[in-house]
Amino acid sequence: MNPLRCPSPDRWLERALSDVDTLLLDHAHCEKKAASTMLALVFRTPEMELSGALSRMAREELTHFEMALRELRRRGLPYVKLTPSAYAGRLAAACRKRPEPDALLDAFVAGSLIEARSCERIGLLAGAIEDRHLRAFYQALHPAEERHHLLLLDAAARFGDPAPRLAQLAEIEAAIVTEGEDLVRMHA
Ligand SMILES: [Fe+2]
Ligand SMILES: [Fe+2]
Repeated sequence: MNPLRCPSPDRWLERALSDVDTLLLDHAHCEKKAASTMLALVFRTPEMELSGALSRMAREELTHFEMALRELRRRGLPYVKLTPSAYAGRLAAACRKRPEPDALLDAFVAGSLIEARSCERIGLLAGAIEDRHLRAFYQALHPAEERHHLLLLDAAARFGDPAPRLAQLAEIEAAIVTEGEDLVRMHA
């Protein structure tokens, strides 16, 4: 099932393809952030089985980070800081911070939406990028991101009925990507 309320605007892909070097650098930072977010969720999760699944996911995101670093190296690009897009911060601002388990449910729902958007955009890049190495990189990531968004939605359901918050947060996510940002970023 696809939780996204709208497809990415065409201008996102056009902008991404106009500067794949910056996109790749941002992508490396996103994979690192995804690993960190999953580890933070391990600390907040009271359940053993779910903690194990999140730990595996954190390791997988670190593997993606290392794959992105390899692509940066192959292209001779420096690994430098980059201002992130406002996307994740705006979505986090819409999540409840207390009490538990509501806050945890929101964190998993928002995480699922972010993974679903990553998955959609990685699929678009895999079908459009000319460089065969980069295309293979995005093709290799796609199935994992598909699994991730389903795992997080499944996790959310352990802490309540995710449907009402999924409906609300998916609307907010769609408004953020429809508005867009004048930046080359995975989540602009
Ligand atoms: Fe990833
Ligand atoms: Fe992921």
